[in-house]
Amino acid sequence: MNTALVQVLGAVAYGELKAYEGAKAEAAAAPDEETRLRFRKVAAEELRHHKGFVARLEAMGADPERAMRPYRTALDTYHARQTDNQVEEAVFGYLGEGVADDLLQWLRKVVDDETAAFIDTVIEDEVEHEAGAAADLRSVLETTPNGKARAARASRTMLLHMLWSGRRGATPMVAFMRVGRPAELLGAILGGHARRMRAIGLAPFGLPIPV
Ligand SMILES: [Fe+2]
Ligand SMILES: [Fe+2]
Repeated sequence: MNTALVQVLGAVAYGELKAYEGAKAEAAAAPDEETRLRFRKVAAEELRHHKGFVARLEAMGADPERAMRPYRTALDTYHARQTDNQVEEAVFGYLGEGVADDLLQWLRKVVDDETAAFIDTVIEDEVEHEAGAAADLRSVLETTPNGKARAARASRTMLLHMLWSGRRGATPMVAFMRVGRPAELLGAILGGHARRMRAIGLAPFGLPIPV
Protein backbone atom coordinates (compact mmCIF):
# COMPACT_ATOMS: atom_id res chain seq x y z
CA MET A 1 0.00 0.00 0.00
CA ASN A 2 1.27 3.48 -0.86
CA THR A 3 1.20 5.21 2.54
CA ALA A 4 1.76 8.73 1.23
CA LEU A 5 -1.09 8.32 -1.23
CA VAL A 6 -3.42 6.93 1.45
CA GLN A 7 -2.66 10.03 3.54
CA VAL A 8 -3.45 12.37 0.66
CA LEU A 9 -6.67 10.56 -0.18
CA GLY A 10 -7.60 10.66 3.52
CA ALA A 11 -7.07 14.45 3.57
CA VAL A 12 -9.05 14.90 0.35
CA ALA A 13 -11.89 12.62 1.49
CA TYR A 14 -12.27 14.62 4.71
CA GLY A 15 -11.99 17.91 2.81
CA GLU A 16 -14.88 16.81 0.59
CA LEU A 17 -16.95 16.00 3.67
CA LYS A 18 -16.32 19.52 5.01
CA ALA A 19 -17.22 20.95 1.59
CA TYR A 20 -20.48 18.98 1.75
CA GLU A 21 -21.30 20.33 5.21
CA GLY A 22 -20.45 23.86 4.07
CA ALA A 23 -22.67 23.68 0.98
CA LYS A 24 -25.51 22.20 3.01
CA ALA A 25 -25.29 25.11 5.44
CA GLU A 26 -25.22 27.59 2.53
CA ALA A 27 -28.37 25.99 1.10
CA ALA A 28 -30.13 26.22 4.46
CA ALA A 29 -29.21 29.93 4.79
CA ALA A 30 -29.90 30.83 1.14
CA PRO A 31 -31.79 34.12 0.63
CA ASP A 32 -33.75 32.85 -2.39
CA GLU A 33 -34.91 29.67 -4.10
CA GLU A 34 -32.39 29.82 -6.94
CA THR A 35 -29.44 30.04 -4.54
CA ARG A 36 -30.90 27.30 -2.39
CA LEU A 37 -31.17 24.93 -5.36
CA ARG A 38 -27.67 25.75 -6.53
CA PHE A 39 -26.13 24.94 -3.14
CA ARG A 40 -28.22 21.79 -2.79
CA LYS A 41 -26.73 20.59 -6.07
CA VAL A 42 -23.21 21.49 -4.89
CA ALA A 43 -23.84 19.68 -1.59
CA ALA A 44 -24.97 16.52 -3.41
CA GLU A 45 -21.85 16.63 -5.58
CA GLU A 46 -19.49 17.16 -2.64
CA LEU A 47 -21.08 14.18 -0.90
CA ARG A 48 -20.52 12.08 -4.03
CA HIS A 49 -16.87 13.17 -4.03
CA HIS A 50 -16.48 12.26 -0.36
CA LYS A 51 -18.02 8.81 -0.86
CA GLY A 52 -15.95 8.23 -3.99
CA PHE A 53 -12.65 8.98 -2.22
CA VAL A 54 -13.70 6.77 0.68
CA ALA A 55 -14.37 3.98 -1.84
CA ARG A 56 -10.92 4.51 -3.43
CA LEU A 57 -9.32 4.19 0.01
CA GLU A 58 -11.21 0.96 0.63
CA ALA A 59 -10.17 -0.37 -2.78
CA MET A 60 -6.54 0.27 -1.79
CA GLY A 61 -7.05 -1.77 1.38
CA ALA A 62 -6.91 1.27 3.66
CA ASP A 63 -9.22 2.15 6.56
CA PRO A 64 -10.91 5.42 5.48
CA GLU A 65 -11.67 6.54 9.06
CA ARG A 66 -8.04 6.12 10.05
CA ALA A 67 -6.84 7.83 6.89
CA MET A 68 -9.09 10.87 7.51
CA ARG A 69 -8.54 11.22 11.25
CA PRO A 70 -5.20 13.11 11.24
CA TYR A 71 -6.72 15.94 9.16
CA ARG A 72 -9.85 16.55 11.22
CA THR A 73 -8.37 19.18 13.51
CA ALA A 74 -6.82 21.28 10.74
CA LEU A 75 -9.84 21.10 8.43
CA ASP A 76 -12.42 21.57 11.22
CA THR A 77 -10.51 24.64 12.41
CA TYR A 78 -10.28 25.99 8.87
CA HIS A 79 -13.99 25.56 8.16
CA ALA A 80 -15.20 26.73 11.60
CA ARG A 81 -14.29 30.33 10.73
CA GLN A 82 -17.28 32.65 11.10
CA THR A 83 -17.55 36.04 9.50
CA ASP A 84 -20.28 38.53 8.75
CA ASN A 85 -17.99 40.18 6.22
CA GLN A 86 -19.58 39.47 2.83
CA VAL A 87 -16.44 40.23 0.83
CA GLU A 88 -14.34 37.92 2.98
CA GLU A 89 -16.94 35.18 2.70
CA ALA A 90 -16.98 35.44 -1.11
CA VAL A 91 -13.17 35.57 -1.39
CA PHE A 92 -12.78 32.51 0.85
CA GLY A 93 -15.35 30.64 -1.23
CA TYR A 94 -13.71 31.52 -4.51
CA LEU A 95 -10.10 30.87 -3.50
CA GLY A 96 -11.08 27.75 -1.56
CA GLU A 97 -12.77 26.10 -4.53
CA GLY A 98 -9.78 27.12 -6.62
CA VAL A 99 -7.14 25.56 -4.37
CA ALA A 100 -9.19 22.34 -4.41
CA ASP A 101 -9.09 22.39 -8.22
CA ASP A 102 -5.30 22.89 -8.28
CA LEU A 103 -4.75 20.04 -5.83
CA LEU A 104 -6.99 17.68 -7.79
CA GLN A 105 -5.36 18.55 -11.13
CA TRP A 106 -2.00 17.69 -9.63
CA LEU A 107 -3.24 14.61 -7.81
CA ARG A 108 -4.69 13.01 -10.92
CA LYS A 109 -1.18 12.88 -12.39
CA VAL A 110 0.30 10.85 -9.53
CA VAL A 111 -2.45 8.29 -8.83
CA ASP A 112 -3.44 4.99 -10.44
CA ASP A 113 -5.64 5.03 -13.56
CA GLU A 114 -8.85 4.12 -11.77
CA THR A 115 -8.45 6.85 -9.16
CA ALA A 116 -7.48 9.33 -11.92
CA ALA A 117 -10.67 8.49 -13.83
CA PHE A 118 -12.73 9.18 -10.69
CA ILE A 119 -10.85 12.44 -10.03
CA ASP A 120 -11.69 13.58 -13.57
CA THR A 121 -15.40 13.36 -12.74
CA VAL A 122 -14.76 15.33 -9.53
CA ILE A 123 -12.87 18.05 -11.42
CA GLU A 124 -15.79 18.40 -13.80
CA ASP A 125 -18.05 19.34 -10.85
CA GLU A 126 -15.42 21.51 -9.18
CA VAL A 127 -14.89 23.65 -12.27
CA GLU A 128 -18.57 24.52 -12.07
CA HIS A 129 -18.32 25.24 -8.31
CA GLU A 130 -15.40 27.58 -8.93
CA ALA A 131 -17.33 29.40 -11.66
CA GLY A 132 -20.30 29.83 -9.30
CA ALA A 133 -18.03 31.14 -6.52
CA ALA A 134 -16.37 33.54 -8.99
CA ALA A 135 -19.76 34.89 -10.08
CA ASP A 136 -20.78 35.39 -6.42
CA LEU A 137 -17.57 37.25 -5.70
CA ARG A 138 -17.93 39.49 -8.75
CA SER A 139 -21.43 40.53 -7.79
CA VAL A 140 -20.33 41.25 -4.20
CA LEU A 141 -17.40 43.33 -5.47
CA GLU A 142 -19.68 45.30 -7.79
CA THR A 143 -22.02 46.28 -5.00
CA THR A 144 -19.49 46.89 -2.21
CA PRO A 145 -17.76 50.25 -1.87
CA ASN A 146 -14.00 49.75 -1.87
CA GLY A 147 -14.64 46.12 -2.84
CA LYS A 148 -11.26 45.45 -4.41
CA ALA A 149 -9.21 46.73 -1.51
CA ARG A 150 -11.33 44.67 0.86
CA ALA A 151 -10.96 41.60 -1.36
CA ALA A 152 -7.18 42.04 -1.36
CA ARG A 153 -7.21 42.17 2.43
CA ALA A 154 -9.48 39.11 2.58
CA SER A 155 -7.15 37.12 0.32
CA ARG A 156 -4.26 37.77 2.70
CA THR A 157 -6.45 36.81 5.65
CA MET A 158 -7.33 33.57 3.88
CA LEU A 159 -3.69 32.61 3.26
CA LEU A 160 -2.83 33.31 6.89
CA HIS A 161 -5.88 31.42 8.07
CA MET A 162 -4.88 28.40 5.93
CA LEU A 163 -1.39 28.40 7.46
CA TRP A 164 -2.73 29.01 10.98
CA SER A 165 -5.30 26.18 10.77
CA GLY A 166 -2.46 23.83 9.92
CA ARG A 167 -0.53 24.53 13.09
CA ARG A 168 -2.24 21.75 14.99
CA GLY A 169 -2.52 18.20 13.70
CA ALA A 170 -1.53 17.05 10.25
CA THR A 171 -2.12 19.45 7.43
CA PRO A 172 -3.44 18.28 4.07
CA MET A 173 -0.67 20.25 2.38
CA VAL A 174 2.07 18.26 4.12
CA ALA A 175 0.35 15.04 3.02
CA PHE A 176 0.39 16.27 -0.57
CA MET A 177 4.07 17.16 -0.33
CA ARG A 178 4.92 13.65 0.84
CA VAL A 179 3.59 12.10 -2.34
CA GLY A 180 6.51 13.70 -4.14
CA ARG A 181 7.15 16.34 -6.77
CA PRO A 182 6.65 19.14 -4.19
CA ALA A 183 8.09 21.84 -6.45
CA GLU A 184 5.57 21.02 -9.15
CA LEU A 185 2.77 21.05 -6.57
CA LEU A 186 3.78 24.42 -5.15
CA GLY A 187 4.09 25.80 -8.66
CA ALA A 188 0.56 24.65 -9.50
CA ILE A 189 -0.90 26.20 -6.34
CA LEU A 190 0.95 29.50 -6.58
CA GLY A 191 0.27 29.74 -10.31
CA GLY A 192 -3.42 28.99 -9.77
CA HIS A 193 -3.66 31.54 -6.96
CA ALA A 194 -2.05 34.27 -9.10
CA ARG A 195 -4.32 33.44 -12.05
CA ARG A 196 -7.47 33.61 -9.91
CA MET A 197 -6.45 36.86 -8.26
CA ARG A 198 -5.81 38.40 -11.69
CA ALA A 199 -9.22 37.15 -12.85
CA ILE A 200 -10.84 39.37 -10.23
CA GLY A 201 -8.50 42.27 -11.01
CA LEU A 202 -6.06 41.85 -8.12
CA ALA A 203 -2.34 41.17 -7.81
CA PRO A 204 -1.22 37.82 -6.36
CA PHE A 205 -1.62 37.53 -2.56
CA GLY A 206 -3.60 40.72 -2.47
CA LEU A 207 -0.54 42.88 -2.89
CA PRO A 208 -1.23 46.33 -4.24
CA ILE A 209 -1.04 46.48 -8.04
CA PRO A 210 1.74 48.89 -9.02
CA VAL A 211 0.49 51.76 -11.16
FE1 LIG B 1 -15.68 18.44 -4.10
FE1 LIG C 1 -16.50 22.10 -4.65
